[in-house]
Amino acid sequence: MPNTFAEALDTLLADLLETVPLRYRWLLLQTLYTGSSRRQGISKLALQPGSQGLDVGCGFGAMAMEIATAWSCTVDGVDCDSTMLEMARSLSAPMTWLQDRVHWISGDILALPYPDHSQDFVCTRFVLQHVSDPKRAIQEMYRVLRPGGFVYIEDIDEGMVLQYPAPPPEWSLVLDAFSRLQQARGGDRQIGRKIPVWLAQSGFEVQSIEPQWMAQVTRPEPNGPAIQWEIERVALELDALYAAQLLTPEEWQKGHARFRDPIADISFQSNASLQIRAQRA
Ligand SMILES: C[S@@+](CC[C@H](N)C(=O)[O-])C[C@H]1O[C@@H](n2cnc3c(N)ncnc32)[C@H](O)[C@@H]1O
Repeated sequence: MPNTFAEALDTLLADLLETVPLRYRWLLLQTLYTGSSRRQGISKLALQPGSQGLDVGCGFGAMAMEIATAWSCTVDGVDCDSTMLEMARSLSAPMTWLQDRVHWISGDILALPYPDHSQDFVCTRFVLQHVSDPKRAIQEMYRVLRPGGFVYIEDIDEGMVLQYPAPPPEWSLVLDAFSRLQQARGGDRQIGRKIPVWLAQSGFEVQSIEPQWMAQVTRPEPNGPAIQWEIERVALELDALYAAQLLTPEEWQKGHARFRDPIADISFQSNASLQIRAQRA
């Protein structure tokens, strides 16, 4: 993929930060923040020009646009959120070379709107952790792939998070409540280790599993993008966290203030996602 395209896309995404509806801001920050692991994964896909595939749970559509550009193939960005698809559509509109190669389709990963054996590849990134029945999603991806087609999945596992010194206990309590809310909705923040097993059980041959580490030593920047992203994604769920009695407003105030504390120590943080490729029989 030409660097100029990656840079242009990042500029469009960064500009969108000014106007994006608040509930999508954390996802936009995540799209920017995880761009290097996305591009790393795409560079290894080795797709045949002209092949046809899906990016399911496409969000802002960065992956679909980058795959279509890098490998000259056709990609449908599929998402269940129509606002999300509208934003992906308007981001891609100025990219004239993508007009016949990228399409934005409304659909659910649990019931993909495609016939059996219709796709050469299916990608899904940071989606299965949110899905109530990820095994079923894997079966759906198997169904729509042609024999010999492949799936490419990237997702997290919070067991791979390392921090030193340990985060303030007030903030750990907030993160723990957030994780339990995702779990109560049927999601799973420890899904990374499970996906390869479910793929193999569903008839895929797992070809590679590559951890992508992001590690840094930082002096906390209270208004830096990493801290901002963490705070915003939790802040959006405060009503749900209070309603489920997983967190109180006092606990949020304390955790939030402590996390942003500008005199906190220099610290090491790393987290990782797994990039998994598997072939359909
Ligand atoms: C965390 S975002 C990831 C976006 C993008 N794949 C990326 O890597 O930045 C999860 C996306 O999956 C979509 N999504 C969640 N559940 C879905 C489902 N059941 N079917 C299709 N899309 C879904 C959400 O609307 C959202 O756009």
